[in-house]
Amino acid sequence: MRYRTLGRTGLQVSEVGYGAWGIGGKQWLGGSDDESVTAVRRAIELGLNFIDTALAYGDGHSEELVGQLVREAGKKIYVATKVPPKNQLWPAPPGIGIEKVFPYDYILRSTEKSLRNLRLDAIDLQQLHVWNPEWLDRDEWRRAFEDLKKSGKVRFVGVSINDHAPDTALGIIDTGLIDAVQVIYNIFDQSPEQNLFPLCRTRHIGVLARVPLDEGSLTGTITADTRFAPGEFRDFYFRGGRKRQVVERVNALKKDLQGLPGTLPEIALQFCLSHPAVSSVIPGMRKVRNVESSVSVSDRGRLAPEVLARLKKHVWDKNFYS
Ligand SMILES: NC(=O)c1ccc[n+]([C@@H]2O[C@H](COP(=O)([O-])OP(=O)(O)OC[C@H]3O[C@@H](n4cnc5c(N)ncnc54)[C@H](OP(=O)(O)O)[C@@H]3O)[C@@H](O)[C@H]2O)c1
Repeated sequence: MRYRTLGRTGLQVSEVGYGAWGIGGKQWLGGSDDESVTAVRRAIELGLNFIDTALAYGDGHSEELVGQLVREAGKKIYVATKVPPKNQLWPAPPGIGIEKVFPYDYILRSTEKSLRNLRLDAIDLQQLHVWNPEWLDRDEWRRAFEDLKKSGKVRFVGVSINDHAPDTALGIIDTGLIDAVQVIYNIFDQSPEQNLFPLCRTRHIGVLARVPLDEGSLTGTITADTRFAPGEFRDFYFRGGRKRQVVERVNALKKDLQGLPGTLPEIALQFCLSHPAVSSVIPGMRKVRNVESSVSVSDRGRLAPEVLARLKKHVWDKNFYS
């Protein structure tokens, strides 16, 4: 496993981090705690030292599992978590004031709750789970982040940027008050490369590449007949004719990637790590075989410029979250 610096935090984080949404259960069905725990332990054994969770993932269950695994690890594992929007609306819709989403006291209370779930003394990176640039000048998030850092309960702070809207974080980066951002970045959505990544590099802001496999599209295993459990997130994400569209896009991609070493998901992760602005790519991996495959990507280095140019053709302007 190779390590990269998480922006100005100076933390040396594994290039492949762990996305802990799936292990919360509830929104992702079909796994089990035993399977998740085995997968995370294997990831840590292979050198992974960064885990991204959130209070909202399984209503604290993901944080509880992550805390247990980090405490037993016997070495430093960096933990990032998130403050859920108080109004429970993902992503943050325009026109709703910060007092309804992230009031000062609420950010502090939510952090305390995460610390209790994790059973840790401090959170390495606390993130707002949604962000709306209309809140830029508001005091609530500024004061809460400052006080949390001062208290030592949080070491570094950041935001998880609204889906497919990387430029909405340019303003908050310019304030100099955050240390890292989390953004959707994958072969289909390469938009962070335009403005966000250059700014992050100039300002030394850490970048977490989330949803690197487009919630499963880029695993190459979804067919028109794939069924997800009713009520689970992916049943919504891949609803209607979307699975058919995915198959078409993925077939075109596979054709273009013929001859390259690695599976489609491995090349998709390698794509994320090919950008120098990315500090860590954080796939969700509940299965050991997926952990082993994803972690192996770190040893492969960057994709050739010619391959990256070919992948530009596969940008897909969509928003399946809405
Ligand atoms: N708003 C936000 O802040 C936000 C939103 C979404 C996600 N996130 C973060 O980003 C993380 C990643 O996103 P995600 O988990 O939603 O989706 P994802 O990483 O794009 O895809 C996860 C899927 O890929 C499979 N997979 C992982 N590695 C694989 C490999 N090497 N080969 C084949 N299949 C592989 C997983 O299977 P198994 O699980 O069965 O092993 C799972 O079905 C989340 O866990 C979370 O930490 C944040």
